[in-house]
Amino acid sequence: MNNFTYFNPTKVHFGRESINKLGDLAQKTGSKALLMYGGGSIKNNGIYDKIIHQLAENSIEVVEYAGIKSNPVYQDVNSARDLAIKTNTDMIIAVGGGSVIDSAKIAALVVPEKMDAWDIMTGKTKPTKALPIITVLTLAATGSEMNQFAVLQNHEEKAKKGFGHPACYPKHSILDPELTYSVPKDYTAYGIVDLIAHALEAYFGDGECGIADRIVESIIKESIAFAPKVLNEPNNYDYRANIMWLATSALNGITTYGKTTGDWGVHDIGHVLSLLYDIPHGASLSIAYPAWLKLMKNKHEDKINRLGEEVFDCFQADDTISGFEGFFKAIGSPIRLSEINIGKEKHTEILKQMKLNKVSGYVNKLEEKNYPVLIDFMA
Ligand code: NZQ
Ligand code: ZN
Repeated sequence: MNNFTYFNPTKVHFGRESINKLGDLAQKTGSKALLMYGGGSIKNNGIYDKIIHQLAENSIEVVEYAGIKSNPVYQDVNSARDLAIKTNTDMIIAVGGGSVIDSAKIAALVVPEKMDAWDIMTGKTKPTKALPIITVLTLAATGSEMNQFAVLQNHEEKAKKGFGHPACYPKHSILDPELTYSVPKDYTAYGIVDLIAHALEAYFGDGECGIADRIVESIIKESIAFAPKVLNEPNNYDYRANIMWLATSALNGITTYGKTTGDWGVHDIGHVLSLLYDIPHGASLSIAYPAWLKLMKNKHEDKINRLGEEVFDCFQADDTISGFEGFFKAIGSPIRLSEINIGKEKHTEILKQMKLNKVSGYVNKLEEKNYPVLIDFMA
């Protein structure tokens, strides 16, 4: 097991009606908030009204930045920065899924020294401080609510990049499972795929740590058990609560403490697909993961076998991979490009983008010669 420093400063407020803590938490954090949210789901499901009420009751001034896109772009972050500077806001409240929270994290970094969001993502400028961030999670998927990472897209440069900084940990994250009742079936499924993918990225990372691997296996087993339940009964508190905490736990550090790093090659592949075709993040991963496992079948046979034994009660690597394919398909997430109308004519474009982005991963490094094989598996 490796040495490690356990650092996670985010205070998580989990549970029924934890949304009612927002006003008090905001009041203790600042006086004027930049409220960031997405394309309007929070107005349709009543979350917006609850938040505005909480903030008004606690005399928090609110400036709104709405319209963060799913698969968010750096330009929105720069615009949010300008608004925050102009209006002198002293904290950011992000209400949404990973796209909103990620945008809020980078906005929090660029405001204090008026930096450019993309320069931060590429490492060109190095931020040193950030505005405090409070998140109100509305979709269980990315784990962004309890980690230091953010992912943004730049369409001109054809890039989707991840970035991490200790100042990006939210100060508070409110995880109220009832806020996810309105997430439609498809995004509920994509969120489950994403959390399983995060667990697997850790599993196939570098370093040996038995407890980390056991946590991963448990996260995957529980997700597979709760997925059909939550899809059948989206307003069941217990089902939503379990999926929510599974998603947070899959990427808040506990799956890699004691190991060196996760792999993240499948996320690299998924980011190419989202970038080119605006595919929801989770859907890109249900296509990419089985293909990657097929490529790694010989290299990681023992580990894939063990995973199969633990999760699907099977003993062959092929059966484990079919197990994941069958599960993703059953919950309605695509496992082949053809299912989402990406035909053979697009393969050259995908290959070109994979080369341009140097799709690799940190541990099981992919090479250019692997790309056509992966594309064939994904087809
Ligand atoms: O935009 P609105 O109207 O809010 O609608 C959203 C969006 O259309 C909707 N939604 C969210 N909460 C809802 C809801 N609809 C109804 N009821 C609710 N309660 O869901 C759609 C998807 O939202 P989004 O935030 O895009 O999804 P997700 O949470 O999956 O985030 C995806 C982004 O996170 C990045 C991905 O790359 C992608 O850009 N990731 C971030 C990570 C991190 N920071 O650690 C790690 C991940 O691997 C991932 O890469
Ligand atoms: Zn992910």
